[in-house]
Amino acid sequence: MSSHRVTLDINGEPHSLDVTATQTLLDALRWQLDLTGTKKCCAEGECGACTVLLDGLAVNSCLVLATELHGASVTTIEGIGTPSSLSRLQDAFLAEGAVQCGFCIPGMVMAAHALLADQPHPDAATIRDRLSGNLCRCAGYPRILRAVQLASSQADE
Ligand code: FES
Ligand code: FES
Repeated sequence: MSSHRVTLDINGEPHSLDVTATQTLLDALRWQLDLTGTKKCCAEGECGACTVLLDGLAVNSCLVLATELHGASVTTIEGIGTPSSLSRLQDAFLAEGAVQCGFCIPGMVMAAHALLADQPHPDAATIRDRLSGNLCRCAGYPRILRAVQLASSQADE
């Protein structure tokens, strides 16, 4: 299958990737760039495990074709914090004990990151609504909600 070269910004760094016509952003991140923090679960837009920011908006990367990304800016979970320097949201997830198996968490954090960038102090209904596309099989929703509320409460500190 022929490939196409796309140049895009990922986590603040320029990248040129050779991708096929059917390759998704999710697979390009995981298999070409080794950015495996973005999880592959349903691969059909149902679970949100693969959520990344595309030009600042939360998207399911399993539904985005890599060939469409020339000139785009992508942020993955690796781009918002590191193990030695967690983001406020990542710290809040740990503080609230919101991480069980952890599989859904990168997607949850990215969706919440997009929400708080948009609305620093959302109410509980808005948080639930904006995370409604992110499924947690461990059913950790109450703690996840509290983690986003905690990060929100620290937004102006
Ligand atoms: S892996 Fe993309 S939405 Fe489930
Ligand atoms: S913490 Fe296990 S799926 Fe959410």
